[in-house]
Amino acid sequence: MTAHFDSTEQTLVIIKPDGVQRKLVGRIIQRFEDRGLTIKKMYQTMLEPKKVQEHYDHLKERDFFPALIDYMTSGPVVVIILENKDVIQIVRSMIGATNPLSAAPGTIRGDFAVSTTENVIHASDSEEAAAVEIQRFFHEQ
Ligand code: PPS
Repeated sequence: MTAHFDSTEQTLVIIKPDGVQRKLVGRIIQRFEDRGLTIKKMYQTMLEPKKVQEHYDHLKERDFFPALIDYMTSGPVVVIILENKDVIQIVRSMIGATNPLSAAPGTIRGDFAVSTTENVIHASDSEEAAAVEIQRFFHEQ
């Protein structure tokens, strides 16, 4: 699967275990729909540690890596492909900064998160990452 089709782009979003457990899924999806983004595919699952380790491989030397893997496998997540022109940048700006101290009010993390680990949502940060992440989480669908 490719992240690009003409000017339409796709991105991969994961509503993390704290977002699902806190029943924020509907409110988060509502924000994407209100913005005019298209939900192309979506499912809920428990992630296997192997897949999460692969997803966060670039962080494997960081001290928080084991806690990140434990957290991401601690409960169900919702995995979504969103589509629109420039959707990668649009969604990144909608989710806000990783550090809650920097996440602006009005962003998803700025409104719903106070932790750098339990920060409700992940979204691809580049075209390259989106292509790899969509393949990783949707190749069986
Ligand atoms: S960094 O530090 O600049 O490499 O961080 P970033 O690329 O923004 O993403 C780091 C992801 O790891 C998650 N995470 C943490 N980051 C920093 N510090 C701590 N303690 C930590 N714990 C977990 C963070 O939520 C980012 O997850 P994603 O899903 O990529 O947003």
